[in-house]
Amino acid sequence: MTTNESPLHLLNYVGGEWQGKDGDTFDIINPATSEVVGTMPLGTKEDVTAAIDAAERALGEWRELSAEERADYLEKFYDRIIERQDEIAQILTLENGKPIKEAKGEILYAASFIKWYAEEGKRVYGRTIPSKGPNQRIQVLKQPVGVVAAITPWNFPAAMITRKLAPALAAGCTFIVKPPKETPLTAVKIMECAEEAGIPRGVLNLVACKNKNFSETIHEDERVRKLTFTGSTEVGRLLMKQSAEQIKNISLELGGQAPLIVLDDADVETAVDQTIASKFRNAGQTCICANRIYVQEGIYDEYVSRLKEKVQELKVGNGLDEDVDIGPLINKDGYEKVVEHVKDAKEKGAEVVVGGEGKYDAPFYEPTLILDAKENMLCMTEETFGPVLPVQKVKSDEEAVRLANDTPFGLAAYYFTESMNRGTKIAEALDYGIIGWNHGAPSAAQAPFGGLKQSGLGREGGAEGIEPFLETKYLSIGIK
Ligand code: SIN
Repeated sequence: MTTNESPLHLLNYVGGEWQGKDGDTFDIINPATSEVVGTMPLGTKEDVTAAIDAAERALGEWRELSAEERADYLEKFYDRIIERQDEIAQILTLENGKPIKEAKGEILYAASFIKWYAEEGKRVYGRTIPSKGPNQRIQVLKQPVGVVAAITPWNFPAAMITRKLAPALAAGCTFIVKPPKETPLTAVKIMECAEEAGIPRGVLNLVACKNKNFSETIHEDERVRKLTFTGSTEVGRLLMKQSAEQIKNISLELGGQAPLIVLDDADVETAVDQTIASKFRNAGQTCICANRIYVQEGIYDEYVSRLKEKVQELKVGNGLDEDVDIGPLINKDGYEKVVEHVKDAKEKGAEVVVGGEGKYDAPFYEPTLILDAKENMLCMTEETFGPVLPVQKVKSDEEAVRLANDTPFGLAAYYFTESMNRGTKIAEALDYGIIGWNHGAPSAAQAPFGGLKQSGLGREGGAEGIEPFLETKYLSIGIK
């Protein structure tokens, strides 16, 4: 499909039926061209309740399957996504704007969670604990939490769904997702793959609707036992308050404000390449991307001059062009935030050495390198969510770590040093859930992703990522 083809008119998926043909709809806009690329039904609270009914009906049989049987379904689901990867990647680029090479990478990343959890589901072990006396036996059982609701973001329209649904399904839960209004089409394509894989009706459901309608309905319904959310800290806080009413189990993947530290014994080439990889992925619209850079005096000039060359080489444009490195920002609001951060940095004395102008039509923004950044600038204290790299000079490891930790967020942090001693101490000192040492791309299905402090609760990915979808039950057996 190219931008010349007609828009996709996709539907909600509830209880194995495609629904919502006749009601209100909303448009999905290509951020690169402002064209309508698709429409979706605007689901109602009744639609959300119908999805909960379906997920509740499907739960009994799904949880009773063996882990091997669920794995067979997940393997088929994975195969269908792999078979359709090019088509889905193109839809992802059309609605999200990210370069097609990144969209293809995201589809593989998304599929990898399904493959990994197909296997991990087979390793949900309980425990047997020695008791105090001869007349008692103690067992610990692990069981699915039940019906799970998920609210997912637009920045990774495929991977943020599968990172939740794969462990949920592997654990024996059923699942309802509300995709974001900006990128629901990719989510529907994933549901199509699930349907083609024969995943039983009601196990997976999708309702595109207003956030409020979704969150109110799931929070009022006792049958939904868990909510898993990826998005802003502000919305996470609100959901946590709502979930308190029914003491719902909640997992939150929230905002980041990642520091990246380059120490004077770093391998400069690695540090520069990994900075670019981390910062400019998805035009900087990634919760774990480097937001602020701290560089030690001894390596500052060399690092900055090589970084400048690389930033200047990045090509901005419509993500469908194979050689584009940076697509548009998701919308005008995202663009305005970036403009505000750069303006604020300039007003407070920073020097913009690459980019920094609204040279392209909104919402495109030039990759921007800012020097002489300081602690009081917005770009050093808030998540910019755009292609802006502010660099601050530091004197010591201690100063770098102090500045890096001086934030309420704790999702990801990066640092570059060739020294085992310095590197080990810094890893231990950084208050972050994900740490990249000489590495700017830590995400992987087999590793636990998640933040400390106001960056979230719980982990997704790895052995840790299935735990949030399991309840622990203690069974005390009296014997004669
Ligand atoms: C995010 O941080 O926005 C998700 C990125 C990832 O999973 O790598």
